[in-house]
Amino acid sequence: MQIINHPDEMSRWSDATRARGERIALVPTMGFLHDGHMALMREGRARAGALVASIFVNPTQFGPGEDLARYPRDFERDAGMLKTVPVNVIFTPDASAMYSADAETWVEATQVTRGLCGAFRPGHFRGVTTVVAKLFNIVKPHLAIFGEKDFQQLRAIQRMVSDLNFDLEIVSVPIVRERDGLAMSSRNAYLSPEERERALALSLALRAARDRYRCAPCSGEELVAVATRVLNQTPGVEIEYVEAVDARTLAPASSIHSPILLAIAARVGKTRLIDNTVLSP
Ligand code: PAF
Repeated sequence: MQIINHPDEMSRWSDATRARGERIALVPTMGFLHDGHMALMREGRARAGALVASIFVNPTQFGPGEDLARYPRDFERDAGMLKTVPVNVIFTPDASAMYSADAETWVEATQVTRGLCGAFRPGHFRGVTTVVAKLFNIVKPHLAIFGEKDFQQLRAIQRMVSDLNFDLEIVSVPIVRERDGLAMSSRNAYLSPEERERALALSLALRAARDRYRCAPCSGEELVAVATRVLNQTPGVEIEYVEAVDARTLAPASSIHSPILLAIAARVGKTRLIDNTVLSP
């Protein structure tokens, strides 16, 4: 397993790998890996001869007052986990190598990032699509793998790839959950034992809505009402949003006959958590 820090060296490695006719899969991460990331790695390993994992805590996707400085980091632990996959390369650049001081170009998918998390984290998705576009240009993968937990991020990246004619395939992998239902996230590390217990309200709310939908497809409003009721039963869970949207466009869900994304963002203590489920008739 090679560790590459500089974008130029990464590009040279990718050029040589492509010249040998090998397919490259990229799994972009911000590190502090968990089993959710490992599912993405395994998918990449199965689909391509060469697997690159990037670890880069991207400053441009954090707003002022967000957790950039305290975002959990443990490179040694991450590298140990990636070795078991195994990945061929860990690409872990410095922020100064990724962004020149006079950079002024952004990549933004404007519509799919308008609502949900985009409404609460201005500039976040612009930072995500910009860094992912840069990673695609540097690593030159044939495919890139993203988790469905960050569903709006996945849609923004799919939009960008289609709108800007990136020549690669985007593969998505379902949410990986702890045994008790909590969606895996690097930010779960912030939760105290009591907060972690309270955080289960998110997956329980989604499960209640899913059970309601299984009885008979119902409107987005009804799904939101069921999920909100469960969240409100848990003290210490502060809802940011509970929304039901069209799973393809992320516009307000207008028909019960097409797949609905039910998405939640809530704060448990100081930690912001997200979770979602897609309900198909
Ligand atoms: O999902 C993440 O970890 C990040 O948003 C990503 C895609 C690696 C971009 O920084």
